[in-house]
This record gives sequence, structure tokens and C-alpha cells, in this order.
Amino acid sequence: MTPPGLFISFEGIDGAGKSTHVGRLAECFAQAGRTVTLTREPGGTPLAEQLRSLVLNAPMDPLTEALLIFAARRDHLLQVICPALARGEVVLCDRFTDATFAYQGAGRGFDVAVLAQLERWVQHFDASLVQPALTVWFDLPPAVAAQRLAGARVPDKFEAQPQAFFERVAAGYAQRLQGEPARFARIDANQPPEAVWQQVHAVFASKGWL
Ligand code: TMP
Repeated sequence: MTPPGLFISFEGIDGAGKSTHVGRLAECFAQAGRTVTLTREPGGTPLAEQLRSLVLNAPMDPLTEALLIFAARRDHLLQVICPALARGEVVLCDRFTDATFAYQGAGRGFDVAVLAQLERWVQHFDASLVQPALTVWFDLPPAVAAQRLAGARVPDKFEAQPQAFFERVAAGYAQRLQGEPARFARIDANQPPEAVWQQVHAVFASKGWL
């Protein structure tokens, strides 16, 4: 029998170190016999990756930015996420809509009512809203993230933002967790990588998924 699909997203400010753990989780799920779709936002399809490149590099006003991100998300849901969930796969998505509320809403100060409307339009499939069953939030103080990112590579539009921007983004994530505590698992990302991984693994073990 096909197991039900499982949709999980991963969030955190730039430098929080989530991507390594997402890859490691993919391996664990595969070892447990599940088919895994490992993907990211903005991106995950040829069209959405093109939109990602624009969003991360081209200057634009906040509404244009939000529209492009949600356009990429729509294509990603239609082409990748929904079909994979229908096949009973585990979908591990490096960022999803909480990032839009944190970065465009809290970070940029864009109208969250508009974001909520876009979310309802874009994520509406088969009379329900597609949402992650679990969102793993890598919570790292912005000052620590700034140290980790310093000199790492040429920063994109978001990575180049000042620490105050990431303070707002982090507060935005905290607000999302407060609004839907049952969907979120908060990870203390201000730890050595192995200690962070132990926390991540414990979350999935406690749910009986690994
Ligand atoms: P990444 O580097 O983790 O792949 O994320 C790309 C950047 O895009 C990151 O700085 C966060 C930003 N972003 C938004 O501003 N809004 C969004 O909705 C998403 C998904 C990402």
C-alpha cells in the first residue's frame, strides 16, 4: 500500500545552517524505504529557478518580489510538490511560505494581508490549502548568522541585508510559530552541527517518521 505523502519545510535566516541537515534527513528517509523529493524555494522547477535568479539578484519593489515568489511557488506546487505527495513521497522543501511572511512581511514590512491572500490563491488545490505537515525552524541569533556568513561568498540581495533586517525576519519566524505552534518544531541552531542534527533527528523520531 502507498504511504500517505509527507510535506515538510525547513526555515531560518540566512546562515542558520539548515541545508546540510535537510540533505541528511533525505538520506535517513531513503534508508527507511521512502521515496524522497528534495527541493527548495524559490525554485524547484525550471521556471521557478529562473524566477529565483531574478528575485535574488534584480532590484524590484516589494509587491513585484512577492508576486514573483508566489508565481514560482505555484509552478513548484503544480509540477513537483503536489504530484510527489500524490505518489506518497516525502517532500523535503528548503523554505516555503513562512519565508515569505518572514522576509517579505516582517523583513521588508510588506502588507501581510496581501501575502495571506496570495497564499490562499496559490496554495489552493482540491478544495484545501496545501501546507507543510511540519515546519522545522532553525533559530539562530542574527549576530551569530552574520559572523557565519561574513566573507563566505558574494552575497545575494538578501544576504547583503543589514543585521537589523534579519532581526525582523527572525521575529517574523517567531510570530509564525506562535500562530501555529503545532506545525512548528524549533531547533536551537546556535550549537555545533552534530548537536543541531541530534535535535533534528529527535523531532522526526518523536513523530515516528524515522
Ligand atoms: P536560500 O539561500 O536558503 O535558498 O534562500 C534564498 C533566499 O530567498 C533567502 O535569502 C531567503 C529568500 N526568500 C524570500 O525572501 N522569500 C521567500 O518566500 C523565500 C522562499 C526565500
